[in-house]
Amino acid sequence: MLSERVLYLLEQNRGKLVTGGELAKQLDVSRTAIWKAVRALREDGSEIEALPNSGYRLLPESDGLSGQSIHDMLATENFGRSMELLESVASTNQYLKGLDTASLGEGYTVVADGQTSGRGRLGRPFYSPAREGVYLSVLLKPAIPLAETAFLTICAAVAVCRAVEAVCGVKTGIKWVNDIYVAGKKLCGILTEAFISAEMQSVDYAVAGIGINTGDIPAEVEDTATSIYAAAGVRGIRNRLIAQLLNQFEGVYTDYTVRGKKREILEEYAGRLFIIGREVEVSAPGGVCTATVLGVNDSGGLMVKRRDGEIIHLGAGEIKITDWER
Ligand code: BTN
Repeated sequence: MLSERVLYLLEQNRGKLVTGGELAKQLDVSRTAIWKAVRALREDGSEIEALPNSGYRLLPESDGLSGQSIHDMLATENFGRSMELLESVASTNQYLKGLDTASLGEGYTVVADGQTSGRGRLGRPFYSPAREGVYLSVLLKPAIPLAETAFLTICAAVAVCRAVEAVCGVKTGIKWVNDIYVAGKKLCGILTEAFISAEMQSVDYAVAGIGINTGDIPAEVEDTATSIYAAAGVRGIRNRLIAQLLNQFEGVYTDYTVRGKKREILEEYAGRLFIIGREVEVSAPGGVCTATVLGVNDSGGLMVKRRDGEIIHLGAGEIKITDWER
């Protein structure tokens, strides 16, 4: 589509003026066609300045998604190399699960500008307004034992932290098992869904869904949620963040599935857990209790010490931080 190609060229020159004539020449269309494409892009929310007799400029804070720009920044073999970019979808996880996953390669990625029914763990809604976040799902086909499926979330969490830190320079921390925090507020959630081959007792495929807030945070949740903009004061980074996230995710995932670096990944994950030594309320299959976090075990389970002194290992469950100090 012409507008996608115009956006790509403006993105390449972000912040600089490009004349209508140059764009028309490069894309082999008329200047009127360029103007119409710019108008369509603006209607879709891209912030493009049009200066009479000078040209067009994509403003630094404009945050439209561009498949080509993401592609240019990928350093992966598989992740994101086949990618669908959707304007709006109920949920990228749901969408990807509905595709013929057997015929798709590992790393197939679905990105949405916004989700109308984004989902988090335990069936909770994940607020996903258009243009205010990165919402994506990656298809994984790991040859791992069933007992290790939680490790996929661990790889994704480490990748998110590395990507956010590289792109925006903000310090991130992990709340076991799937939440990324910045300065005591939630920035990102991860929902990994694994599908099992009953015959083989192995993982058939998995969908790793990642949602990162990047833009405005509604006033009613600003005490508990944050975004890249709220934490680092920058906008216009979604394409870079997506590419960096896919680069990091493939790296960590391959370290785990191919290079056998499970221990190193766990060490990094544990090093990023900001809840160690903190008091939490644990909701696990056995019930609810208060405990102090000790660390993670070899399978990524959380080790906590209950008030009665008993140490328990949580493979699944949910924790709530009770000694919150922001
Ligand atoms: C959580 O906070 O419990 C997890 C949130 C996961 C949200 C992401 S956004 C992309 C993908 N699609 C969804 O519906 N959920 C995940």
